[in-house]
Amino acid sequence: MRKPIISFTDVVKRFDDDVILKGVNFEIEEGKFYTLLGPSGCGKTTILRIIAGFSEASQGDVFFEGKRINDVPANQRQVNTVFQDYALFPHMNVFENVAFGLKIKKLPKNKIQEKVKEALRLVRLGGYENREISEMSGGQRQRVAIARAIVNEPKVLLLDEPLSALDLKLRTDMQYELRELQQRLGITFIFVTHDQEEALAMSDEIFVLNHGEIIQSGTPVDIYDEPINKFVADFIGESNIIKGTMIEDYLVEIVGKQFECVDGGMRPNEPVEIVIRPEDLSLTTVDKGKLVVRVDTQLFRGVHYEIICYDQDGNEWMVHSTRKAVEGSQVGLFFEPEDIHVMRFNESEEDFDARLESYEE
Ligand SMILES: Nc1ncnc2c1ncn2[C@@H]1O[C@H](COP(=O)(O)OP(=O)(O)OP(=O)(O)O)[C@@H](O)[C@H]1O
Ligand SMILES: [Mg+2]
Repeated sequence: MRKPIISFTDVVKRFDDDVILKGVNFEIEEGKFYTLLGPSGCGKTTILRIIAGFSEASQGDVFFEGKRINDVPANQRQVNTVFQDYALFPHMNVFENVAFGLKIKKLPKNKIQEKVKEALRLVRLGGYENREISEMSGGQRQRVAIARAIVNEPKVLLLDEPLSALDLKLRTDMQYELRELQQRLGITFIFVTHDQEEALAMSDEIFVLNHGEIIQSGTPVDIYDEPINKFVADFIGESNIIKGTMIEDYLVEIVGKQFECVDGGMRPNEPVEIVIRPEDLSLTTVDKGKLVVRVDTQLFRGVHYEIICYDQDGNEWMVHSTRKAVEGSQVGLFFEPEDIHVMRFNESEEDFDARLESYEE
């Protein structure tokens, strides 16, 4: 592993009696795209503010390239932030906005010219130097905000929900552009969003947060395929989450029937929850199904039908299918052993990782 550029050890943040961050630990490697993902109020902006130096940790240590930086003021950190509302100066044109930080640093005029030109070229706004901010679209303003941050050549760029104000099409375009820019510049990006699709599409690593704690960290594929608990499974993608019993390794019981699965390392007959993704389920005839369900409703979603079914115990099953179903009919539900993902109640990320190692291979 490369050495971390930023790390948190047991960082706690309190506002009066409220504990907003409950001992956060992570390591950020240089040159990667990280995303902090979690619901509103979970502490994402607070973490960015502590990294940037706008807010202090109440407890714990913050390191930058191995040096403790808790007491280093914001303007001496090699970090720049793109704020959610962009915080551009409306009375200045594009050039002046991007040049602002360099002027404060008292760089020579020709050096400023050169750097601003290069930053605008990188965000594809070459030629827009003299435009007023009020004459720019939302997406363009966002790129000005990014140019203003990268012109300072930070080692780390912090982006706080920079795409949330954009419409869906522009937002998707900007996702590609940001990802591409990060790879081209090789700067470490720490991106904040509460949009799981955005996180899955853009990141090398995701930290899933809830109530001031990192619940799970990993690559998008890890987190999607192996959520450690119901919160993560629910938050990332569509999930069918059903209560069950782990009879023994590789055998789980749900809806009164036993199924082969690929998980293990639990106690015999331990109560568990299982996840099956809607795209891993298919509908078949009653005799070929592993479970029998009744089709309740369906919606056409463009690429597939989203079909809602219920089993005999009243569990809801969402199925993604390219074929239409007949509402009210009894059908078979089919899935493979590897489509079942078993989760324990209250398992920490460390225990989850240790268990995986103990029974795999
Ligand atoms: N200055 C403050 N004083 C008191 N409480 C604060 C302060 N700043 C943030 N909080 C609280 O800390 C919690 C986390 O806030 P934070 O802004 O980090 O959330 P977030 O994950 O960025 O949410 P969102 O997605 O809505 O932006 C919230 O409950 C918020 O009310
Ligand atoms: Mg926030």
